[in-house]
Amino acid sequence: MDKKRIIVTGGAGYIGSHTCVELINAGYTPIIIDNFFNSERFIVDRIEQITGLRPDLIEVDCTDYSGLMTLLKGYKGIEGIIHFAAYKAVGESTQKPVDYYYNNIASTTALLKLMNILGFNNFVFSSSCTVYGQPDELPVTENSPIKTAESPYGRTKQMCEDVMKDYQKANQDQKVVSLRYFNPIGAHSSSLIGELPRGVPNNLVPYITQTAAGLRDHLTVFGDDYDTPDGTCIRDYIHVVDLAKAHVAAIEYLIRQKNGIYNVFNLGTGRGNSVLEVIRTFEEVAGLKLNYKIGPRRSGDIVKVYADVAKANKDLEWETELDLKDALRDAWSWERSLKEN
Ligand code: WQD
Repeated sequence: MDKKRIIVTGGAGYIGSHTCVELINAGYTPIIIDNFFNSERFIVDRIEQITGLRPDLIEVDCTDYSGLMTLLKGYKGIEGIIHFAAYKAVGESTQKPVDYYYNNIASTTALLKLMNILGFNNFVFSSSCTVYGQPDELPVTENSPIKTAESPYGRTKQMCEDVMKDYQKANQDQKVVSLRYFNPIGAHSSSLIGELPRGVPNNLVPYITQTAAGLRDHLTVFGDDYDTPDGTCIRDYIHVVDLAKAHVAAIEYLIRQKNGIYNVFNLGTGRGNSVLEVIRTFEEVAGLKLNYKIGPRRSGDIVKVYADVAKANKDLEWETELDLKDALRDAWSWERSLKEN
């Protein structure tokens, strides 16, 4: 019997690798498609080390439609596609907008064309809370207005969601979901996989763990004069393992659907934490004082955003099981494992 195969583009990346582990734990066989532009080959070995199963690996760029067609047309038993592969640095996207539009949109359209021709179904798209911009009301629901994105990166996510909606309207049997992530943090409890930022981390938590590990002199808090209780920005930080499990739940949700569907889900914890709260929680978990300074605001930052996750809880039959402390503990353990290896 053909194994329950799931194509995972960007499967050697941060969220992709954690999702491959949870797919295997749920009895699926991931087929990783990755060009290793922003990921490392050894992560595939680590997935095997954690689960005992080595995913198939196809090394190709997701914008290479004919390459994808050649490599995938022989596969049987494909139960779904999870599309992570994308450029995702907000700041970089303002410097290289065309690279971002080409890569993020062309990869999505190539895969959708392929789905149709090869008779695949159940497409899960990696979207982001960035599509909401600065929400007027909190918590954010899936019906909250989509605002003008703050960056080309955010616009590629909005545009890809529109592409998928039009695709599903024109192909009514197709089943498609867009998962809007809030702020993924943390690492697998084994410390064998985790976040591998290239160069200076843009995101808060890897910058914190690298500072604590002595790789950075200090963390700069980007502004403490916002309209929040302690003056620092508020985000919804979700453990990457909870996020990975939500992708398995999304695939199973699509498989359950008798008819075609396009749907959207927020994936967060439903709770907001400020930058200073994250720092304090990290200090408590790691048992150290973090060297940080208050600096100027970072342009493009929104003040406060956290998710209403009732829809995902109900429809995906998924709930977060881990909290901020768990995520910071696992992030710190992963950082220390990197230093040892
Ligand atoms: C969080 C908070 C910063 C670094 C981005 C993308 C989003 C998603 C997740 C892809 C903010 C503050 C940060 C630092 C700081 N990526 N900060 N000092 O900007 O909420 O979201 O990453 O999908 O699309 O926009 O995450 O971790 O960069 O920042 O004070 O050195 O930490 O100002 O308030 P962000 P972040």
